Amino acid sequence: MYIGIDLGTSGLRALLVDGQGAPVSSATSEYDVSHPKPGWSEQDPNHWTTALDAALSALRSDNPSAFGRVAGISFSGHMHGAVTLDHIGSVLRPCILWNDTRSHVEAAQMDSAPGAREISGNIVFPGFTAPKLMWMAHHEPDLFEQIATVMLPKDYLTFWLTGRRVSDMSDAAGSAWLDVTQRGWSGDLLAASGMRADQMPELLEGTDFAAKITPSRASELGLPADVRVIAGGADNAVAACGVGALSEGQAFVSLGTSGVLLSGRDRCAPAPASAVHTFCHAVPGRWYQMGVTLAATDSLNWLSKVTGQTPEALSSAAGHIQAPSDLRFYPYLSGERTPHNDSTIRGGFSGIDIAHGAGDLARAVMEGVAFNLRDSLEAMRSTGLQIETALAIGGGTRSQLWTEMLATALDLPLERPVQGDFGAALGAARLAICGVTGAAPQDIMQPPPVADVIEPNPSLRGAYEDAYAAFHAGYPKLKALQ
Ligand code: XUL
Repeated sequence: MYIGIDLGTSGLRALLVDGQGAPVSSATSEYDVSHPKPGWSEQDPNHWTTALDAALSALRSDNPSAFGRVAGISFSGHMHGAVTLDHIGSVLRPCILWNDTRSHVEAAQMDSAPGAREISGNIVFPGFTAPKLMWMAHHEPDLFEQIATVMLPKDYLTFWLTGRRVSDMSDAAGSAWLDVTQRGWSGDLLAASGMRADQMPELLEGTDFAAKITPSRASELGLPADVRVIAGGADNAVAACGVGALSEGQAFVSLGTSGVLLSGRDRCAPAPASAVHTFCHAVPGRWYQMGVTLAATDSLNWLSKVTGQTPEALSSAAGHIQAPSDLRFYPYLSGERTPHNDSTIRGGFSGIDIAHGAGDLARAVMEGVAFNLRDSLEAMRSTGLQIETALAIGGGTRSQLWTEMLATALDLPLERPVQGDFGAALGAARLAICGVTGAAPQDIMQPPPVADVIEPNPSLRGAYEDAYAAFHAGYPKLKALQ
């Protein structure tokens, strides 16, 4: 038996699988994000270990005999967070999370350092780890002085279970300290942000053995004494392991809180100017690229809040797919990453008519999110990537209408998997299987069975293409208004 842990932003999921990777049982435990000041977003790492303890206890009481046969555990975690430890391993301050924008000045400074984009393969976004440490050096110098190790969120769980300070390539790639092509810490990038190599955890591949769980944790948690902890990876990379998106062109599009279009890559082909993320994959010798839209289902949820109608009611009021009208929505409610890299832009509607109702607004919101993901597709294609089809995952793809809109906007057939999304937790369990048994990732990380394929609507392709062009031209106009 194996356990995959998904350390998410709002909660932790633990998934127990058998030796073939088939889900047996799952448990979740939630925690909060604190926002002590505007733009700040923090979490206490102790809340993660409490949640891990609670989720493992639930798995254990559901399946005591299976739990007693666990051979390996691995992780998926939210990216970019800064966990700072002193020399005895105590946490110095709450983790500064991926969606915290306090270090935008430091990010811009590091982004303009010579070689920063070339080596890290990415724009240095304000949410990335390195600028957070620059911020600490300026604003919390006493704490900064005491930093013995900087860890990424899921790596703190490995540390708690094993006492070892390690990270993996996929998570390290989101720190802005990694040479993504060479898969190693970059002395130049560390120096550009005032950090030292001895403050970095040892780097492993996601399928590498990190350490055995300590005897005291094993007895506290009721796990066998020889459970192996496998390094694991960053949430999107591990979700890709969960749906078999490993190789060049194997892609998924996810309509979750944020929207992601991700494809595996056989080589490292960074294109930072396009605001596409290029990161190491959670399996050796592979990379992935992704475009990120910050507010996907979040956009429809926002409309739901202001209209007092549920997202499902709005989606049904939006009716059937049709040629987009002049009513357009720009989903930059929390700023935007791909392709604009603009944390200050905000969203908008244009072309509202006195006759429009909530259903029209909902249709425009869903179309706008689909067009924004088309922006990501174009940005990814500009790096030489070819995508012919993609799996469609995430809560928003339960809507037939939204998935049809997405397929038509992207002009790609979209495959919806048969059963529920264990996503990143399943990917983590698969990393544990590979790490413990030595199985090849491509044998274990197969795509899920497909329930249906949503084709682009042929009669609406022309209208969608025109509407996408109008949408794409809208950003600079919106920017000029703000
Ligand atoms: C990726 C990113 C998010 C976080 C939280 O760059 O910021 O996917 O990992 O899920």
